[in-house]
Amino acid sequence: MAPGRMTTAAAHATRASEPTASEIRRLSTLLDASQALSGTLDLKAALHRVLEILGRHHGAVRSTVVLLEAETGQLRVEAADGLIRQDAKVRYEIGEGITGRVVQSGRPVVVPRVSREPLFLGRAADRPELTHQELSYLSVPIVLNRKAVGALGVDLKFKPDRDYDRYVKFLGIVASMIAQALKVQRLVESERRQLVEENTHLRQELKERYDFSNIMGTSGPMRQVCEQIAQVARANTTVLIRGESGTGKELIAHAIHYNSLRARKPFVKVSCAALPESLIESELFGCEKGAFTGAEARRKGRFELAESGTLFLDEIGDINPATQVKLLRVLQEREFERLGGTETIRANVRLIAATHKDMEQMLSSGGFREDLYYRLNVFTIFVPPLRDRKSDLLLLADHFLEKFSRAHGKGIKRISTPAIDMLTSYHWPGNVRELENCLERTVLVCDGHVIHAHHLPPTLQTAEASGTVPHLSLKDAVAAYEKDLIQDALKTTRGNRAKAARLLNSTERILNYQVRKYGIDWQRFKTQRRDQA
Ligand SMILES: Nc1ncnc2c1ncn2[C@@H]1O[C@H](COP(=O)(O)OP(=O)(O)OP(=O)(O)O)[C@@H](O)[C@H]1O
Ligand SMILES: [Mg+2]
Repeated sequence: MAPGRMTTAAAHATRASEPTASEIRRLSTLLDASQALSGTLDLKAALHRVLEILGRHHGAVRSTVVLLEAETGQLRVEAADGLIRQDAKVRYEIGEGITGRVVQSGRPVVVPRVSREPLFLGRAADRPELTHQELSYLSVPIVLNRKAVGALGVDLKFKPDRDYDRYVKFLGIVASMIAQALKVQRLVESERRQLVEENTHLRQELKERYDFSNIMGTSGPMRQVCEQIAQVARANTTVLIRGESGTGKELIAHAIHYNSLRARKPFVKVSCAALPESLIESELFGCEKGAFTGAEARRKGRFELAESGTLFLDEIGDINPATQVKLLRVLQEREFERLGGTETIRANVRLIAATHKDMEQMLSSGGFREDLYYRLNVFTIFVPPLRDRKSDLLLLADHFLEKFSRAHGKGIKRISTPAIDMLTSYHWPGNVRELENCLERTVLVCDGHVIHAHHLPPTLQTAEASGTVPHLSLKDAVAAYEKDLIQDALKTTRGNRAKAARLLNSTERILNYQVRKYGIDWQRFKTQRRDQA
């Protein structure tokens, strides 16, 4: 046989394996449908698009997607196309009508002549005059995790020679694409819900954490600070918090935010001292792409991130003169531009600034602009150092003891009197933070139920020792320990020396002798102060 010529049989075979026009149409529809379903998270719109394609290219007079509603257990029309009643909220029970049966059984149904099918409800159908012609109805299940969760239904003009099997297969593929899109949408939705829940929970936790009740202090100065927080929190006033390092400035900034009308909006902190000079401006105001080498994309600054919320400028005393000028402008005009940008951005941000620096000295030396200082200094809260509020010290010590004892799973109940004396006689240059760290360390090294003087860190030991004996001899150390134990026993027995002696397995006579020797004022344990209990 000459090349290029085929037998009639071979030609037939080739023609049979060639796709027909309707197959090509179906393939291109599948491609379009998959693009529509994967291109968006708006499932309803994507379903409409798919149904529209079925109407335009596949002779669907009417088409619907019904989905099972988790709350009601009913089937609800999610999307529809063609001659459909737009107003009706069409619903089916599972097992009701043809659609209901398809979902119940998970199998497709074909009704070649709708007029002869008593089960056909046609609830979504509109304008019967247009559909008086005989119709066929095909419905295939939408299956997710091996369970039918809906159905895709199509009305076609009745044609006696229609290949229903092929059409059902084709619709089955479309339905499986819909199922896949549904799966993605439900995953995204459940993730989103989880995030929203988590966010609400975290916000609540933050609010509780920075609640007023967590700011410990009953001393006069601390009461005044709390009053000031209450006064200023709900206003939009700029607040300047001043105080030595570790006095609780950040805690107060949080308390102001979480008690303000902006509590549900972001609280954004900028540590001005921690940022290098070259970066601080872009951190605060953001930058446009290419504003400087390394700025590869447009980035929002902290002012934009804190929109409608609070911006906390920590260590404001450390910002450079150039940034001071820009900050002044935002404070005056409430607007700014991103670095390298021209668009002016409005700033709806409440400012709280904090510093441990001597601002007056910085003003006179020219390190800080006076005009900026007056803008910041609208409402100033001074947080007193811990050494000036001794009455807060034991309250804070108890608070941290309980916190760390719980955190480290220890059953520590109290602090012994000598240890209390050491805590109160120390000058706490690092303020509350130092006390907090000291208590954590002490809880870690303490192995009983009581914190004794020897559990306290060396800084405190040296402080005490430096006032009395520079180098403790063995004899002195034993004496100090003995004194510690006796005082503790007296405290337990509320100054009852006989009982204290019994507790120490000693006699009252020996105890009295030691009390005199160490100059212990046992009477003071009789009327025990509450804060030493
Ligand atoms: N009144 C208080 N009640 C309970 N905890 C406090 C109190 N004051 C401070 N703290 C705790 O002490 C620690 C230090 O506080 P904070 O970070 O607010 O200090 P700061 O003044 O910002 O210090 P710095 O100037 O060094 O940044 C924090 O863990 C805070 O929770
Ligand atoms: Mg701080």
